Amino acid sequence: MTKEVSLEIDLGHLHLKNPIMPASGTFDVRCTLLNENELNRLGAVVVKSIAFKEREGNSEPRTCETDCGLLNAVGVPSKGVEYFIKEELPLLKKANNIIIVSLLGNSVEDFCNLAEYLNKIEEISALEINLSCPNLNNGIPFGVNEDKLYELIFNIKKNTSKPIIAKLSPNVSDIKKMALSVQSAGAEIVTIANTFMGMAIDIDKQLPRLGNNIGGLSGPAIRPIVVRMIWEIAQVIDIPIIGVGGVCCAEDAIEMFLVGASAVQVGSANFSNPYMMLEIITGIKRYLKEQKHNSIQDIIGLIKD
Ligand SMILES: Cc1cc2nc3c(=O)[nH]c(=O)nc-3n(C[C@H](O)[C@H](O)[C@H](O)COP(=O)(O)O)c2cc1C
Repeated sequence: MTKEVSLEIDLGHLHLKNPIMPASGTFDVRCTLLNENELNRLGAVVVKSIAFKEREGNSEPRTCETDCGLLNAVGVPSKGVEYFIKEELPLLKKANNIIIVSLLGNSVEDFCNLAEYLNKIEEISALEINLSCPNLNNGIPFGVNEDKLYELIFNIKKNTSKPIIAKLSPNVSDIKKMALSVQSAGAEIVTIANTFMGMAIDIDKQLPRLGNNIGGLSGPAIRPIVVRMIWEIAQVIDIPIIGVGGVCCAEDAIEMFLVGASAVQVGSANFSNPYMMLEIITGIKRYLKEQKHNSIQDIIGLIKD
């Protein structure tokens, strides 16, 4: 009998049965796409960023397709934390025992209040901090200033005992500085990356295609940039990295493991194929067998320099 390869992985204190999970905002909590059993086969579930209070999103149109990716300016609408706990968390509990909740805030205080509130909810395994949120004080996303990043993560840590995953914005000139900053502030895990700022124009109407004018680019177009960023930060930080950006098949995820990611999130690809994450899990097992590895851990960071 051939030995089953192991996809188990530890991300800090989080133990996952496999390293594949949805990216925040791209997975349906109501299980209309994947059923509970299918969701249970994922390493974790990650929910859309939630705010403390209900908030509206951006004006329509909120998404637009480009040649090799999707531009979105959804604006992170949220029904607020109480709605999440009452209506969505019970569904998630049935689907997977590793639940990662993404947090959204406009100020350090906002994030801290939310982190403190969620700290008492046992079923939540970790908090992923959406660092692409604009800071209400100056309108600039937290993720583009290393000092603000440090201050934010450091203060969130004071308000929760749950593991903190810092989801970095890629819209910076030196991603290593940002990764080092969140690590020294106490983040246990880094997710790289959120979407890249972009814009598309309707040349007939002579207008931007998005209601918000600019939006975030995701999908295959960004993958080589994210792979480079994972490779760069893997050389300077010691905490685990979750890679995300344009993963559309097992081979794409494997690229990320080889340059140093310990887990991979799948985002936009879920919209065209809800079974993508399950197919990726099967494809990674096949690859490991073909390459005569016993465990996913054998290939993480194989390509160092
Ligand atoms: C429609 C849409 C909504 C998103 N919402 C969120 C969100 O609420 N919070 C967040 O951190 N990232 C959000 N993202 C970013 C994704 O989690 C992911 O970082 C990005 O799409 C890159 O991955 P991909 O190329 O696999 O889609 C969203 C992306 C899309 C396309």
